[in-house]
Amino acid sequence: MTPEALARQLAPIAAPLVDWYRQNARVLPWRENTDPYRVWVSEIMLQQTRVTAVIPYYLRFLEALPTPAALAACPEDRLMKLWEGLGYYSRARNMQKAARVMVERYGGQLPSSFEDLKALPGVGEYTAGAVASIALGLPCPAVDGNVLRVVSRLAASREDIAAPQVKKDFSAALSAVIPRDCPGDFTQALMELGACVCLPGGDPLCGGCPLWDLCRARALGIQGRLPVKAPKKARRQEEHTVFVLEREGLLPLMKRPEKGLLRGLWQPPMAAGHLDGEEARAALSAMGFLAMDLRPLPPARHIFTHVQWELVGWQARVSGDGPRDFRWFTPRALLEEAAVPTAFAAYLGGKALKGPIPR
Ligand code: ADE
Repeated sequence: MTPEALARQLAPIAAPLVDWYRQNARVLPWRENTDPYRVWVSEIMLQQTRVTAVIPYYLRFLEALPTPAALAACPEDRLMKLWEGLGYYSRARNMQKAARVMVERYGGQLPSSFEDLKALPGVGEYTAGAVASIALGLPCPAVDGNVLRVVSRLAASREDIAAPQVKKDFSAALSAVIPRDCPGDFTQALMELGACVCLPGGDPLCGGCPLWDLCRARALGIQGRLPVKAPKKARRQEEHTVFVLEREGLLPLMKRPEKGLLRGLWQPPMAAGHLDGEEARAALSAMGFLAMDLRPLPPARHIFTHVQWELVGWQARVSGDGPRDFRWFTPRALLEEAAVPTAFAAYLGGKALKGPIPR
């Protein structure tokens, strides 16, 4: 279907969709007002994380860093600690880079056009469209997975939503139909419909849908089979061994390298591969530790975008200093100071490690 044909089909959805949204929108903290900074922070956090998980992070983040200037000046360790457990840490790093651009070029505010928003680090089509429509009142659509699903069903489109051209076409069609007087409500209404009614999988809640009579998939009875999405490439699997060590009440951790996965965050000592007891003892010895009462910990899995970690763990009391770049933490300092990624939650408490944010 061409974008023009799709736009003709979508034109009647705007009014009933916006009416429905105004009566049914969930009360969410980023909907209290349309301050561009608040909207931007929410959209970045919501990119890969569910609404319920985002809310406490969002409130804490805005309290700690209420302006672009505060974010621009935040020490890295504190920023990582604020983000600890949310995952995809490059989102936070890019936000800080963007905040620095705002301070340098835009008087400490978000820029006020779609193009300038999109030029910021970490801001793509989707985020620029969301901020432009919700915060600036510009008629720019924001097409995320929810919106792709809703539009696919409305149009009974069997096109592959993983294809960039399909996203472009949907976006072009929505640009033509987004209401000029309330673009932000329209953007959020589409997302809200996708999140609360037009659910993924076989059982969307069509009975409660304000677009019931405008939906071609529903008329054909194929809503449960849409959207079509080509499967992603399988993730690479990596095997690692994690060591949870203790010496006189202190735990050794090291900072991950400044490049690559989880860069700059703290990790317990690790070794490549799944080591048995003897191999674990030898690996510890090579690090300069003598292991006492070595005990196995349960295996764990952590899934990243392109990689999957299969972890096994060993716990031990140790003597020896270990490598020079290890830092020894008390459990309390670990809680309060070090951002430890959720990938290690099974071994170090992960989300349970959440403590007060360092000042
Ligand atoms: N997901 C992405 N953006 C959102 C928003 N503004 N409200 C609710 N869910 C969202």
